[in-house]
Amino acid sequence: MSELINNDFSKIMFDRHSVRQFDPSIKIPRDELQTMIEQAATAPSACNLQSWHFVVIDTPEGKSKLKEAAMKFNYPQIDSSSAVIFLAGDTKSHEVYRDVWQKVYAAGKIDKAKLDTILNTFLPLYEKATPEFLTLDATIDCSMVGMQLLLIARAHGYEANPWSGFNFKTIIPTLGLDEKRFVPVMAISLGKPATDQPVLKTDRYNTPMLTEFR
Ligand SMILES: Cc1cc2nc3c(=O)[nH]c(=O)nc-3n(C[C@H](O)[C@H](O)[C@H](O)COP(=O)(O)O)c2cc1C
Repeated sequence: MSELINNDFSKIMFDRHSVRQFDPSIKIPRDELQTMIEQAATAPSACNLQSWHFVVIDTPEGKSKLKEAAMKFNYPQIDSSSAVIFLAGDTKSHEVYRDVWQKVYAAGKIDKAKLDTILNTFLPLYEKATPEFLTLDATIDCSMVGMQLLLIARAHGYEANPWSGFNFKTIIPTLGLDEKRFVPVMAISLGKPATDQPVLKTDRYNTPMLTEFR
C-alpha cells in the first residue's frame, strides 16, 4: 500500500466536508486513482461478493458524456474535479462467487467442509434472488466502498463530493455499462479544493434523538 499523506484518523474523518469546487489544474495520476480504489475496496461487502464496479471519468469527453445524465447542479463538481469515480452495483457478482471461494480453498485458508458450507449457504440465496434483492445488496456494497473512497481520498491529500443527482434511468447506458447487470449508486468527484471557494461545514442532528437502546 502506498504512503498516505494524511494518516490522522480523526482529521480524516471529522474534518471531511463535501467539496464541490475543485482546482481544475490538478490532475490525479491514474495509478494513484487505481491505488485509492484498491484501498477503498478493503471495504466489507455482503458475503464478500464485492458487488461494486468503478468507472473513472477523467477526460473532457468522459465528463461531457457524464453530464448528459447528471443534474445541472452537479456540473461544477464534474467540470472542476480531477476525476469522477462512478460506482455501479454489480448484480451478477455472485456468478464468480464459486471461483472466489475456490481460490481461498486452494490457498489453504479454509477446508473443504467450510468451502461447501459457504457455497451451499450463500450461492442458492443469490441464484434465486429477485432483481430487487440483488440491487439492494449491490447498492449497500457500493455505499460501503464509497464511504471508504471518501476517506482514503483525504488520506491522499484530496477532497471529494459524493453525489447521486443524476438520471437513474439513463446513467448506466450513458456510461456504456450493461443495464442487465449494473445498477447506478453514486458518483464521487475528487480533486484538490479551489482555494477561493468557501467549503460548507454542515451540521448534524443530535444523535441521541435518533437513537434507541433496547
Ligand atoms: C447518497 C448521496 C447523494 C448525494 N447527492 C448529492 C448531489 O447530487 N449533489 C451534491 O452536491 N451533493 C450530494 N451529496 C452530498 C451531500 O449533500 C452531503 O454529503 C451532505 O450535505 C453533508 O455534507 P458533508 O458531505 O459536507 O458532510 C450526496 C450525498 C450522498 C450520501
